[in-house]
This record gives sequence, structure tokens and C-alpha cells, in this order.
Amino acid sequence: MWQLSSLPTLNAFLNATSTILLLAGYRFIRQQNVRVHKICMVAAFAVSVLFLLSYLTYHYYVGTTRFTGQGWIRTAYFTLLISHTVLAALVPFLALVTLFRALKGQFPQHRRVARWTLPIWLYVSVTGVLVYLMLYQLYPQTTQEQAESTRLGADTSVSEETTASDRKGYFYPTFLCAELVAATTNDPAANAAVTTNAVPR
Ligand code: HEM
Repeated sequence: MWQLSSLPTLNAFLNATSTILLLAGYRFIRQQNVRVHKICMVAAFAVSVLFLLSYLTYHYYVGTTRFTGQGWIRTAYFTLLISHTVLAALVPFLALVTLFRALKGQFPQHRRVARWTLPIWLYVSVTGVLVYLMLYQLYPQTTQEQAESTRLGADTSVSEETTASDRKGYFYPTFLCAELVAATTNDPAANAAVTTNAVPR
């Protein structure tokens, strides 16, 4: 059956798909094949929109997941996560500008911005898969830790009175920052800022 807990795997799959589409799109424009370049890039954009919807849905209901690795891998993970998060906030804007310039036929301007958009977008897609592997496959939380750090399975205090306006930081870049703070700290207040979401009844 479909479950919220399968969304991180779907998200990693969508990130991997957009990586492949971006690389293929780049290869096609290098071969002067504008038609297939366009198809690949529009598809990469559509896949990224799906990713964003799935990502926001998951974190809206589940909150943050703590990284349990210790030592050097923890430093490596947070270095990756911070760079991924900062650049991920830029991608929607860069991708839209790049796409609009191309669709309006402003190809020299398209090419200029695309030379920034493409590597940043690729970095975010690839590191998205790496973050998923480290967080959910290599160093997964125990069920108990998951229940303690998220609202799923521990939803006792927030009731029906919780309204949409209580759901903090839902504007994507703000949400990313709030999630990052909660993921890097053990402060329950910071974590609550992200996880104060009512599970629908
Ligand atoms: C956000 C999505 C897109 C990205 C990331 C992207 C990326 C790129 C990149 C990196 C280049 C430069 C290639 C090089 O340096 O040789 C380029 C060129 C080009 N792209 Fe896109 N592209 C996107 C969407 C589109 C779309 C929708 C079209 C539709 C027609 C298009 C048409 C072109 C054309 C005609 C060029 C050649 C421009 C020139 O050489 O002056 N692109 N694109």
C-alpha cells in the first residue's frame, strides 16, 4: 500500500531522473539537437516540480529526520546537506528564468544563465540522492527515534485547532532553512518549529 514513508525513496528516484534528463539535455544541445534538448529540459523541470510537491508533502506531515551517524561521516553529511540546501533554494528561480528565456527565443541570454543553472541544478539533484542514501539507507533512524523526532506516531499534543497558519516556514526556501536548523540541532524548540504539523484525522 502507498505510504508516506515511501516518499523519500520516490524523491530520490525523481532526483536521479532529473539528473539523467539534464545530462541528456546537455548532450543533445552540444549536438545542436534543439528539439530533443527542449524535450529533455522541459521533462527535467516537470520531474523537479513533482519532486518539490512530494518533498513538501513528506516534510509537511513527517517533519525532519535526524542523521544518526557520528564522527567524520557526520561532518561530511552536514557539509553536503548545507551546500545542497543553500543551492536547492536557488534552483526554482534559476530554472524558471532559464526556461522562460529559451521559450521566448532569447537564446543568447538563455545560454548565459543556463551555464549557471545547469551545474547548480545537477549538483542539487546528485547531492539530493546522496543525502537520501546517507539519511535513510546508510544511517537510518530506529522506529523509536523516528517517533520521537517527528509527529508521526507521536501525535498527542497538537489537536484539530492547529490551523494551516500554524504550519511554519512553508514557503520553500524558509522551509529548507527551518528544516536545516532542526536537523543540525538537538534543541526540541527548533525541531518543533518544523514538526508542528497536525496529522490529518
Ligand atoms: C531549464 C531548462 C534548460 C536548461 C538547464 C538548459 C541548458 C542549456 C545550456 C547549458 C546551454 C548551453 C550549451 C553550451 O554551452 O553549449 C543551452 C543552450 C541552448 N538551449 Fe537550453 N536549456 C534549457 C531549456 C531549453 C529550452 C526549453 C529550449 C527550447 C527551445 C532550449 C534551447 C536552447 C538553445 C537553442 C541553445 C543554444 C543557444 C546558443 O548556442 O546560443 N533550452 N541550454
